Amino acid sequence: MKKTVLLITLSLTLSLSFLFSSISFAFGPEEDSSENVIKYRQYVMNAMSNHFKALKFLATGRITQPDQWLPHARSMVDMANMIESAFPPESDFGDTEAKEEIWENKGDFNQKALKLIKASEATVKLIEANGHDKVLEQIKEVSNTCKACHKKYREL
Ligand code: HEC
Repeated sequence: MKKTVLLITLSLTLSLSFLFSSISFAFGPEEDSSENVIKYRQYVMNAMSNHFKALKFLATGRITQPDQWLPHARSMVDMANMIESAFPPESDFGDTEAKEEIWENKGDFNQKALKLIKASEATVKLIEANGHDKVLEQIKEVSNTCKACHKKYREL
């Protein structure tokens, strides 16, 4: 009797895990439509852009929220880390400003994303060290990494 219960439990567990693994496969990144991939990466870019603008507002003294510099800078690092996977192959068709050259030079494109990650991480470190004064200069460095990528890989 005990054995039967054990067997039933085991087979149930196995079939459930199979079911879940097939579900996650069905909704894996490779199944996402090009249209949704494009929309999603534009949301990510806009989210990053808004954190950047908010940080610039703080660093230029237009807003006084000393505790909010760090969350914006950290969010920029998080968003920047999403860039590489936001441009999978076959996602250059549709309502996009992404140039085909991205997929011909994915290594260089990823390097440009990495420069933004590094510049954003440096911003986080500056703020953590309470160096609010130098943040504005660092933000300019960040902005240069955005421009360097857009110039080469974004239709403007
Ligand atoms: C490694 C390359 C790269 C970097 C770095 C980068 N971008 Fe982009 N960005 C792109 C590409 C490519 C597009 C076009 C995406 C599309 O339309 O599919 C884009 C699109 C955008 C858009 C428009 C989104 C929309 O709704 O169409 C904004 C805003 C933006 N980027 C802001 C920024 C800011 C701000 C930074 C720096 C903090 C930045 N980007 C850094 C490649 C980059």
